[in-house]
Amino acid sequence: MKRKTLEDIQVAGKRVLVRVDFNAPLDDRLHITDDTRLQAALPTLEHLLDQGAALVLMSHLGRPKGKRLPQMSLKPVAERLGQLLGRPVQLAPDCVGPEVERLAGGLRPGQVLMLENLRFHPEEEKNDPEFARQLAALGEIYVDDAFGSAHRAHASTEGVARHLAVRASGLLMEREIQYLRDAVQQPRRPFVAVLGGVKVSGKIELIENLLNKVDALLIGGAMAYTFFKAMGLEIGNSLLEAERVEVARQTLARAEERGVQLLLPVDCVVADRFAADAQTRVVARQEIPAGWLGMDIGPQTRQLFTAQVSGAGMVIWNGPLGVCEMAPFAEGTRQVAQALARASAERGTLSIIGGGDTAGAIAQLGLSGQMTHVSTGGGASLECLSGLVLPGVAVLEREGG
Ligand code: 3PG
Repeated sequence: MKRKTLEDIQVAGKRVLVRVDFNAPLDDRLHITDDTRLQAALPTLEHLLDQGAALVLMSHLGRPKGKRLPQMSLKPVAERLGQLLGRPVQLAPDCVGPEVERLAGGLRPGQVLMLENLRFHPEEEKNDPEFARQLAALGEIYVDDAFGSAHRAHASTEGVARHLAVRASGLLMEREIQYLRDAVQQPRRPFVAVLGGVKVSGKIELIENLLNKVDALLIGGAMAYTFFKAMGLEIGNSLLEAERVEVARQTLARAEERGVQLLLPVDCVVADRFAADAQTRVVARQEIPAGWLGMDIGPQTRQLFTAQVSGAGMVIWNGPLGVCEMAPFAEGTRQVAQALARASAERGTLSIIGGGDTAGAIAQLGLSGQMTHVSTGGGASLECLSGLVLPGVAVLEREGG
């Protein structure tokens, strides 16, 4: 079935139950340190309010494991959202139960009620049908804008949708699907994927899926050293996933079979210890000294990688290219990100950033606004790019209940 979007539903005078992903980071004083996910949902919420809906918002925050933990209350989120929307956002004392039903039932058009953290109830993550039914009773229409949680088959992302005949995806959800799923199916070419981060293990399905679609695959970050090992190189004390060396070897062979250019770093910045003030050197990849460890891609690799992204029609990027939380090792990520931002501005290259650490790195560089799309999903963006079906999206596309 074709997914309904906001354009397909009539919400005036209705109570709309909206799943958002407001799993935002909080500091020790319970202040939100990054409200990107709240900002990203505003277009959907404002659209629904402008159309005359009343909103019942539901989200999780953190992993309270079915317990009511005050430090994981959505109170700071409701307050911040109220500021962003410029109208009060009332926080319900819970997410189900008679009092919540009373509050939801009393909403008038334009009013917003935020339910307390869904994960205070173990039934949420178990996708408990009765819990899903209780959530569904709070609204007349279901809108899912929580792409960041769409890889979870939980009561609020999956079960609830089965109880509400009218269900649609929100604007953020649509954008995420458009760039992380549909664009990968019909890429603009040359299609270049940039992969980094620490582990090969979390990215095997991603690499496998992308190898069938990309023209070039650029691999940096700590995962490159497992590939070096597979090529028979010495890697000193660099991070190694010994049990993935074989997978790396198979990946290299498959890339060759399929005629995909697989580019690994040709040089690296190595350090004598894992610290921002360590001694550093630039070495060719076959010359990593014993006792030293790789921390970033080297200058020649930066040139190679920037040339690739500069000539691309579309770039998907998942995982930083070095230890970019330490300033001396952020240079590779920075230069490639700048080249990508330039290519987007000057050539219209589609620049798509998988969420999580990569989105954080791009934000830290101040380049988020210059990319075509920066995903709000961490695990969800990885699974989507890996070609996996996200339960939260599938339920929006299925027939009937
Ligand atoms: C995320 O932050 O990736 C989502 O909110 C999902 O959170 P979870 O990994 O705790 O399910």
